[in-house]
Amino acid sequence: MRFRRTAEKAEAREPESRPAELLGDLISPISGGRVPRHVAIIMDGNGRWATQRGLPRAAGHRAGTENIRRVIERFGDHGVQHLTVYAFSTENWNRPQPEVQALIRLLSRFIKRELDNFKKNNIRLRLFGHVESLPDWLQKQVNDAIAETRDNTRMTVNICFSYGGRDDIVGAVRRIVESGLTAESIDEEVISRHLSTAGTPDPDLIIRTAGDMRISNFLLWQAAYAELYFTDTYWPDFGREDTDIALAEYGRRKRKFGGLLEEDLKAFDSE
Ligand code: FPP
Repeated sequence: MRFRRTAEKAEAREPESRPAELLGDLISPISGGRVPRHVAIIMDGNGRWATQRGLPRAAGHRAGTENIRRVIERFGDHGVQHLTVYAFSTENWNRPQPEVQALIRLLSRFIKRELDNFKKNNIRLRLFGHVESLPDWLQKQVNDAIAETRDNTRMTVNICFSYGGRDDIVGAVRRIVESGLTAESIDEEVISRHLSTAGTPDPDLIIRTAGDMRISNFLLWQAAYAELYFTDTYWPDFGREDTDIALAEYGRRKRKFGGLLEEDLKAFDSE
């Protein structure tokens, strides 16, 4: 895997009127000077991609798994520091058993194929979701890979597996209650700290492939101010060019976090 960090070379410029640390943005020529610190992806359309080619759905998931490397590499080149992919939701357990088993095997295959690349490229692996719902041998593989990449700092790749946004919030509430915190001491920061994503910045950009425009129980709390980007492209076809287009679109968005931009404030003053 070869990473070229355009972001490191460019001069830092504060985007819009928001503090850089709030936006978490770096610099990239493609996105007009702003790169999301954290990109999260709903990788949809594997089944349709396969059906279109007369292949079994599992072939679509295989092609989708292989595509993750390409996208990690491209986002890494642009300076994205956190990439989260939605590989298996808490609701996906309801799919037919052969498909569930195929997705579980693909998690193992992904780790086997990518672990050396992750180590070579200073990439950390994390898993959000119920690792304990996986077979013992896979729990060990996942936990070993997480431990072996724990100190890597260039980029973090988070795989959401057996993950659900509501379930994540339920887990956080349980942990808060168990910790004995008082009602008055609970604020947004406390909740964020008890979610499975603790320590990861909220996503700046959420991408969903394959045409549907919904969030599907993905990072519900964390997505509060994420920019949403939808494309008709099926996940296995989402390549470097699509990655660049998504980043360019992100660069055009005006992020306000519920406030006003400098230009809006000026217009207000002159009213
Ligand atoms: C949605 O496509 C995709 C999923 C349910 C899973 C996404 C999984 C992968 C890309 C592979 C697994 C990756 C890892 C790292 C284990 P769909 O099946 O709903 O497609 P459709 O809407 O066209 O039927």
